[in-house]
Amino acid sequence: MVNLKLDLLPKTKKEFAHEGYWDTFFKNLKKKGRQSFEWYGEYPELAVILNKYIKLKDNILIAGCGNSSLSAELYDVGYRNVTNVDISQVVIKQMQDKNKSLRPEMKFIRMDLMEMDFDENTFNVVIDKGTLDAIMADSSDEIRERAERYLCHICRVMRVGGRYMCISLLQEHILVFLCNYFFREGWMIRISRCMAGCTPPNSPMKTATFPVFAVIATKFKKIPGFSPNDFNSKILRINMYMLRSLLYAFCTVESENKVKCSCLSFEVLEVCLQNPDGKVERVCAISDMIQEVKGVQQCAMMRHHVVTKNVAGEDISLELYETDSERPRYTLHIVDLDKRTVNRFAIFIVPMGKENEYLFATPEGRHQLAEDSGYDRLIVVHLKPDQFYESLETIKDELSGKVMELAPADLRRDARVNYLSTGEPVSGRRRHEGKSAFAGQYVVSEVDSLEDKAKYRRLTFLANPAVIQTEVRLLPYRSNGKDGSGAVSYFVDYSHLSCQHHVCMTAGLAFLDFFSSLAESSEPIRVLIVGLGGGALPMFLNKYFPMLDIEVLEIDDEIREVATKWFGFTRGPRLRVIIGDGVEYIMKKSAEGKTTYDAVMFDVDSKDPSLGISCPPKVFVEPNMLVAVRKLLAPNGLFILNFACRNKQLHASIISQMVTFFPTMLSWKIKDEVNEIIYCLNYKCDSSDSGKRELMKRVSTSILHINSLVKPLLGKWEKK
Ligand SMILES: C[S@@+](CC[C@H](N)C(=O)[O-])C[C@H]1O[C@@H](n2cnc3c(N)ncnc32)[C@H](O)[C@@H]1O
Repeated sequence: MVNLKLDLLPKTKKEFAHEGYWDTFFKNLKKKGRQSFEWYGEYPELAVILNKYIKLKDNILIAGCGNSSLSAELYDVGYRNVTNVDISQVVIKQMQDKNKSLRPEMKFIRMDLMEMDFDENTFNVVIDKGTLDAIMADSSDEIRERAERYLCHICRVMRVGGRYMCISLLQEHILVFLCNYFFREGWMIRISRCMAGCTPPNSPMKTATFPVFAVIATKFKKIPGFSPNDFNSKILRINMYMLRSLLYAFCTVESENKVKCSCLSFEVLEVCLQNPDGKVERVCAISDMIQEVKGVQQCAMMRHHVVTKNVAGEDISLELYETDSERPRYTLHIVDLDKRTVNRFAIFIVPMGKENEYLFATPEGRHQLAEDSGYDRLIVVHLKPDQFYESLETIKDELSGKVMELAPADLRRDARVNYLSTGEPVSGRRRHEGKSAFAGQYVVSEVDSLEDKAKYRRLTFLANPAVIQTEVRLLPYRSNGKDGSGAVSYFVDYSHLSCQHHVCMTAGLAFLDFFSSLAESSEPIRVLIVGLGGGALPMFLNKYFPMLDIEVLEIDDEIREVATKWFGFTRGPRLRVIIGDGVEYIMKKSAEGKTTYDAVMFDVDSKDPSLGISCPPKVFVEPNMLVAVRKLLAPNGLFILNFACRNKQLHASIISQMVTFFPTMLSWKIKDEVNEIIYCLNYKCDSSDSGKRELMKRVSTSILHINSLVKPLLGKWEKK
């Protein structure tokens, strides 16, 4: 890597362009006894990429050779046609002296790259290692004009099918310049990550802030009168056969990168950014190429930051993608304690579906987790509901190579990684996935619980992956197969509410005096639930509170089907589903003024969690909706809201507004979760502290007892 002492650096960047600066530079290096000064790595580190693109017989030009040993090493492994040029007479003389007897065929010529006098089509390969970076020290017009002159000569001296290989840090102005220049010239461009600058495996941790890249630009034959820009600006009225011949006319090179005719654009732009041997991917536009490279650079900078510094107080997260996949597989949150403990580094795998619990979802919770587990740095790993994970062991295998890259600098890279979790099963089996117009992609998955040995089935929307929309318990039963085999199947146990927010919403019915006088009521109690999900809440209410008359409003017919097929949801005389928009329905019903409900419940997810509110969508708690909801309530009615809002400001403003719309309002924060349940009563209660305490006692008693209202069926192998 580049490691220039201050006395070797020029006073201004422009000096990099002057012969005099380089003469002094190489004289000084010699005085200091330095044999060579390598920019961006030596031959062994670059061999993979160089050997991939250069053939032994190629006529090679090393542009700005300096006193690098690269050309000597290429020569020694068999590349004999190597010409080195440099603007510094001093370094050319040094290199001639050094190589003349050992490598007699190798040429060293003093030449300005801006005024090359080689004939047209002389070279198959031009290698530039750090030279363009030195020439383009900044993005001023003057320097840019010099760089254009340099590349213009490269284009002239290169044979068709030849490659300009520029090893560079690709600062943004150089990246943009190179891509646009060769795109204009109609060359194929590939950008590959070099291993130089990467941290070698099993070495004590060192990180490079700046990754090194190779831009490989391949010269295509120009068709007179055409430039690639013509293809972009005109609609070409040609058929595919003509297009194919036209494109092949450009491509006379036999290479693994034959031009494909799959799209009507001319450019061939590729990136290979994992490692030099990794998969090459086609990109559609220069801007995509630039973004991909910038992504790698930002990632390297971020990694350097977390490896060399304590990041306590910073909220740093990153997503890991599988190779060749567009879907993230893990989210990693890096948590540092601001004090030093005995244990240095561990990985905490959050069981799938628990990502939204306070301890794992919030920076404060994760900090507490790091303190509790006693590690200086804890990487908290969230799994993705749309991904399949075979077992904890598979997860460890997948992560072990990656997570050490985030270990503190003083930890050896071959140190053993400690994996922690809660002891619950970490992953779920995906049973079904689909996409609907409203919910987007959704997943039905199953996990086995160690706690009660039962299976649980969940519905998750990928737009809001940290929130489980519905969870139900599955119980086994032995079916009487025709052959008498009695295979084990599972049914949904609607006697059990698995989601804590459903427990708390149900318990809110205690405000209706449900467990005492209303139980004897002869009139049905009218309930409107907005948001069906898997249907766990309405099914439980319908089964155990027969005096309820329940209307469920769901926007998405496909979700109703999912509830029916995967969560055992069934309609009944006292349980109806209406497919429609909750906001429109409530506004319409309230305007009509004919209907009243004893209870209205919102259990609706937001498809835009970027605001910090994942339940309900913000429009559901806007003033006009709250007015409409209140109008729908019977005098002793009750509005119950499942509310999950991480954004503190938004949370405060919604709550302070809601208070003004209902005579009594109480909130029940669900332990270890972001969700809270807001109970709004349509009547005035004793608002003294003791009065409120009394009310909450009523709810909390119900919360505790909901699941024991019915006898647990587990373990009984009953018939459905
Ligand atoms: C950053 S050094 C790279 C040296 C070498 N490629 C390496 O990898 O160590 C840049 C080299 O480009 C040379 N150089 C700068 N401007 C040049 C020009 N206009 N023509 C030829 N060489 C030039 C410098 O003399 C210097 O040797």
